[in-house]
Amino acid sequence: MDIKKEVNEIKDYIINLRREFHKNPEPSWKEFETSERIKNELEKESIPYKSIAGTGIIATIGNNKGKTVGLRADIDALEIEELNNKEYKSLKKGLMHACGHDGHTAMLLGAAKILKKHEKELSGEVRLIFQPAEELGEGAKKIIEEGGLEGIDNIFGIHLWSGIPTGKFSIMPGEIMASADLFSIKIKGKGGHGSMPHQGVDAAVIGASIVLNLQTIVSREIDPLEPAVVSVGKLVSGTRYNIIAHEALLEGTVRTFNEDIRKSISEKIERISKGIAKTYRGEAEMEYIWGPPPVKNDEESVKFARKCAESLYGKDSLYFSLKKMMGAEDFAYYLKKVPGVFIFVGSGNKEKVTDFPHHHPNFDIDEDALLLGTTLHIEYAVSYLKKK
Ligand code: NI
Repeated sequence: MDIKKEVNEIKDYIINLRREFHKNPEPSWKEFETSERIKNELEKESIPYKSIAGTGIIATIGNNKGKTVGLRADIDALEIEELNNKEYKSLKKGLMHACGHDGHTAMLLGAAKILKKHEKELSGEVRLIFQPAEELGEGAKKIIEEGGLEGIDNIFGIHLWSGIPTGKFSIMPGEIMASADLFSIKIKGKGGHGSMPHQGVDAAVIGASIVLNLQTIVSREIDPLEPAVVSVGKLVSGTRYNIIAHEALLEGTVRTFNEDIRKSISEKIERISKGIAKTYRGEAEMEYIWGPPPVKNDEESVKFARKCAESLYGKDSLYFSLKKMMGAEDFAYYLKKVPGVFIFVGSGNKEKVTDFPHHHPNFDIDEDALLLGTTLHIEYAVSYLKKK
């Protein structure tokens, strides 16, 4: 089968779907209409599917005579007011597909249509995973909990990327994206009159001191050759200028590529915050919420995906300048369970003004990239199933 040619023939189908999803963005766990729309398309093609993880869908194409390969698209949008003025602009106030998941969904539906046409030629099963709630880092976990990965031998995922020119693909081994955890610290002091500080225990001072001292984790306690981030994004305390604050709340995030360091940072945060609180006669309680682990690509799958890209678009299509990211992706949960690869497909085009960063209110994608992504989905699945 000539994949490139066949994808080109359904170009309008893919682009129209993407625009339709773009016009109707829905936030994480509330992708109701999106989910219905995907099901409609699958029904039109007589592709069997089942619902999973609330608004998620798993569709299957092929047979059980060989291996099973998973293809994943995330389907949720973001709480951002779109500033673009294209004909396909978001119709929903305060909501926007500002990360390209509209394109991911359209590409996977395009791939489904062509894979279904060639179902008899497949030497195994292709499982299409339409995943909700990626932006919360929760959807993938739920899909796994509900058995969505059972029987899968390998998994492939695509993120369109505005920081890479259209026509290029970043397919890199090892940890390519960081883990992302959340911590919150509750500080207890003792209230009082602002004019008589000695009678109280100032939770605002404790909170401020903890924020400053947490900066020493990365600068003083972590190997400088190991990237890590500890950011406090929220610190609230007090009610009025002349009252000693009796409580403070602090929230932050931890990012790293190394599971051991990740665990050690959670312990350091607790040690430092409790120690500081005690120094100032107060108390601190930490809650640490583990988010997605680092995205770690399997070496063999990386080699295989590169071969797929090269066979279709030549050696020059591979892009090696994309740095590792401290950003996270819940695709990481799948890669903890089965080997596979998460790749970035360039969608940045200066002339078309599609090079704004992801999550920006002017974000947009070069729709030519949709054809490349669809083609890679198909090539990866078909070739993987053929592999001995
Ligand atoms: Ni995204």
